[in-house]
Amino acid sequence: MCFAVKRVHLQPLKTILNYYYSNDMSTYTVSDPRKVTTKRIADMRLADEKIAMITAYDYTMATLVDQAGIDIILVGDSASNVMQGNATTIPITIDDMIVYGRTVVRAVKRAMVIVDMPFGTYQGDPIEAQRNAVRIMQETGADGVKLEGGREMRAAIEMILRAGIPVMGHLGLTPQSINKFGTYSTRAQDEAEATRLLADAKVLAEIGCFAIVLEKIPAMLAAKVTQSINVPTIGIGGGGACSGQVLVLHDMLGLNREFKPKFLRVYNNLGEQIIDSVGNYISDVKSGDFPNENEQY
Ligand code: KIV
Repeated sequence: MCFAVKRVHLQPLKTILNYYYSNDMSTYTVSDPRKVTTKRIADMRLADEKIAMITAYDYTMATLVDQAGIDIILVGDSASNVMQGNATTIPITIDDMIVYGRTVVRAVKRAMVIVDMPFGTYQGDPIEAQRNAVRIMQETGADGVKLEGGREMRAAIEMILRAGIPVMGHLGLTPQSINKFGTYSTRAQDEAEATRLLADAKVLAEIGCFAIVLEKIPAMLAAKVTQSINVPTIGIGGGGACSGQVLVLHDMLGLNREFKPKFLRVYNNLGEQIIDSVGNYISDVKSGDFPNENEQY
């Protein structure tokens, strides 16, 4: 089985070991259909192959992004914003995340699926954190969990890892702490916070996180973190030196048209296309043009 992928940027030569290019060089094909595992993510970092991660929350979108050849699908708690219409990620519950996670896992054949642990499910008692992570793994079939925070989450992360559950860390702008920050602006711009973040990243890597998301921090700091640890970094507003990148699917497809941060590249305008398509359908229904003779029994 092969996955046709629109080529946006050519990867380094080493990547050609894993991808072969079609004749017109406009698409590449993922030649290795095996399930992406933590081992493969580690290998990708060693081979300097960039890791492509994207969010998904439902069956149809997860099927499509998996067929496109994405390496990691994050069932992010950004579902709180883009699926539920909340202003922050705070309100989403573990029950909600389990429904989204299970739905995505059902769709996916190749990508690694990581489910976000929502606000309030890991910040307290580490045993409770482990219990919640186990629940997510058992009830969704995901390949691992992600949680936000640095050294203050050490005990929870170690407890989850002790259960054999892969953990992806998340540093920098950690949206579950938005009420503490009071702003979505770039984190770690001053030396003290940058030093803390680097130390956090080192601890997360040392205790066994298999990757770390770096959200909205200066590119030079993300580069320094990436060079200083032996696990991949996945940037979102962290610049090009990270080992991989992640975007929220709805943002990069142009479905979420109000959200325009500098780090976002918008690859389509599906929002406008949907409005146009539905507008055309409404006109056709109102005018009696739909259905025609060929669209009825
Ligand atoms: O919830 C999410 O989508 C995330 C990404 C922005 C990394 O955490």
